[in-house]
Order: sequence, then C-alpha cells, then structure tokens
Amino acid sequence: MKAQKIKLFDLKKEYEEIGQEILEEIRKVLESGIFIMGKNVEQLEQELANYFNVKYAITVNSGTDALLISLKALGIREGDEVITTPFTFFATAEVISNLKAVPVFVDIDDNFNIDVNLIEKSITDKTKAIIPVHLFGLPVNMEKIMEIAKKYNLYVIEDVAQAFGAKYKGRLVGTFGDFGAFSCFPTKNLGAYGDAGFILTNDQELYKKSKMLKVHGSIKKYYHEEFGYNSRMDEIQAAILKVKLKYIEKFNNHRIKAANLYNTILSKNLYITTPKASDEFYHVYHQYTIKVNDNSPIDRDTLKKELELNGIETNIYYPYPLHKLPVYLNKDNYKVYHSLVRAEELCNKVLSLPMYHYISLDDVEYVANTINRIFNV
Ligand SMILES: Cc1ncc(COP(=O)(O)O)c(C=O)c1O
Repeated sequence: MKAQKIKLFDLKKEYEEIGQEILEEIRKVLESGIFIMGKNVEQLEQELANYFNVKYAITVNSGTDALLISLKALGIREGDEVITTPFTFFATAEVISNLKAVPVFVDIDDNFNIDVNLIEKSITDKTKAIIPVHLFGLPVNMEKIMEIAKKYNLYVIEDVAQAFGAKYKGRLVGTFGDFGAFSCFPTKNLGAYGDAGFILTNDQELYKKSKMLKVHGSIKKYYHEEFGYNSRMDEIQAAILKVKLKYIEKFNNHRIKAANLYNTILSKNLYITTPKASDEFYHVYHQYTIKVNDNSPIDRDTLKKELELNGIETNIYYPYPLHKLPVYLNKDNYKVYHSLVRAEELCNKVLSLPMYHYISLDDVEYVANTINRIFNV
C-alpha cells in the first residue's frame, strides 16, 4: 500500500506547479481595483475565441449558466421539448426544466454518450433542440447530430463542460452547434479557482443576445430589454483562466498519457471495459471511467470498497440516471419515448478512477495494478 492515499483528483498539485504565476496575476487584479467586467475578461474572451477558432466567446458564471443562457437566447420556453441524455450531471436537464421546457431523455451507447441512432425516434412537433453531452471528455458523433438537427430544423447546444480540447474528426467540440457551453468548475480540464464558465457561438445575433442576458438583460447600463441573469465571470477567475489556458495542451496531453497507461495495464483484465478513444473521437479524459463487465466475479461496489481499502479513492459518475431522481418522479416533468435500459444498467457498473492533469504515472500504475490484483489477473 502507498504511504499516501491516491485521490480522485488533487488540485493542490497544480497549485504547487503554477501557483506562483497565478498569484502574480491575482495580485495585479487586486491592485487594479477592478473586479467585474475588466480587461482580463475581455482578453480571455478573445483568447478563447482564437483557441476555438470561433467568432465569439462569452464568459459567464458557471457551466450551468452557460447552458441556461444558451437555451434562453435560442428562445426555448414552456412546453418546448429538448432532447438530451439521462446519463450526465443533473445541470444539463435542470436548465431545461428551469425554463419550463421538457427534457426528453434518449438512451446512451456503450461509450456512455447519447446514442445518436436513437434520437430521431424521439423527435416530435414540439422538439426544438438537442443537447449532446461530451461525457467524461469523449466527443459525441457531431456529424450525425448536425445531420439530424438540419433535417428536423433543431437547435444544437453542445454541453462541453467535461470536454475542453476534445475533438471530433479533428475539430474541437463546442464549435459544431449553435452554442458550445463550457464549465470551468475547478476540477474541469480548464478549471478556475471558483465557479466559472463560457459559451461559444459564431452567430452575431446569438452573441448579442447572450451577452445581454448575462447582465440582467441589458447592453446599455440601467436600460433593461429582457429578464436576464447576473452571470458575469469575475476578473480574478478570468486572470486565473488566462494563465491556465496557456497550459491546456500540456494538461490534456498528460491526461491522455495517464489514460493510455491505464489502458495498457488494464488491457489484460477481461472483467472490465476501459474507455474507447480514437483519432476520430479524440478523448481528453476529464474522467477515466471503467465499466465492470457482466462476467466479473465481483460487482462494482465491491471493487470500489476494495480500492478504498488499498488507499485509492474512486467515484461513481453517475449513480442514478436523471429520470430516476426525485425531481423527475413526476412523469409530467420529462419525456421518454423509448427504453433507457442502458443508462439504467450502466449506473450500476461504472467507476471513475483517479485522473487529473498532475496525477503521477506512478500512481496510475499502482491503481491499475491493484485493480488487476483484486481480480487475480
Ligand atoms: C456535463 C455537465 N454539464 C453541466 C455542468 C455544470 O457546470 P457548473 O458546475 O460549472 O455549473 C457540469 C459540471 O459539473 C457537467 O459536468
């Protein structure tokens, strides 16, 4: 057993590495006396737009707000149906429900993402939009999503909360849909030191609308044209993100290296399935999530407990499919047009292993070898 517990993620290691550079930028913000809507936010928006090669990036307060403002800017309202996955963080569906629209859950495929081949069966005359979620950092097949959206005249909001830097067929995800909505929650691939998020779009009207919505529905001070939100990213978070954006390739490459090492060591273990990735589906491993197979002699919860006894922290993303949560017990609050059996099953079989951009390869090796030892392989 290792002397120190291996954590699921450890933000302190990042701070040890780049903390001084970040402190310097925070100091400059404090000295400037400008904390809201200053030059760091402006520069970050420009740098993000350049990074993604899109016309506009709009910083907001969180990934949740990025989704909410995107939906609202597209005019999604009461009674509209929005197709998404039941296997995601709650916020994806919560924002739809908060606008009194109706989440329509479509089952997932073996890679944990929405099954693009099932979407068309769930489209009705009320359907207005699709929210594909690039879960754990693995891109959804965006070619298929955009083809369906075009055929049925639907909006697409990509939930890119977990997939900064992931690419589908060489193109960064978040740049395919009408909007790409990102979270910069601290543990994300590009994480702030508090809540933060941003939206991407190429559409000038949508840009203006979302920029207005994030500041109480006003462009001109004290002249409110809409009911909006208070969802500004603050200058300190923007300054931190500007520093971290310089390292994002390094961060993602390290995650990929760690994931490849997990894959190699776990490849001989036929009781578990490791994440799929390829050049076409360029994965950035926000999470490294395995599935415990049906032939396994032990179940997922036993594996989790055994790992804990060996000083290894793991987590279950996600223990419940969204339609089984108390908020959706009332079946009027969501719609399902066919079975969600895979999402229901996978919730009992998934386990996320330690993964972050400063994890040591030594720790990865220890975790993977311990799993093999538990299974006697
Ligand atoms: C898939 C997904 N969507 C949306 C969100 C919401 O982001 P935030 O926590 O920044 O509001 C998250 C973050 O946890 C997420 O993982």
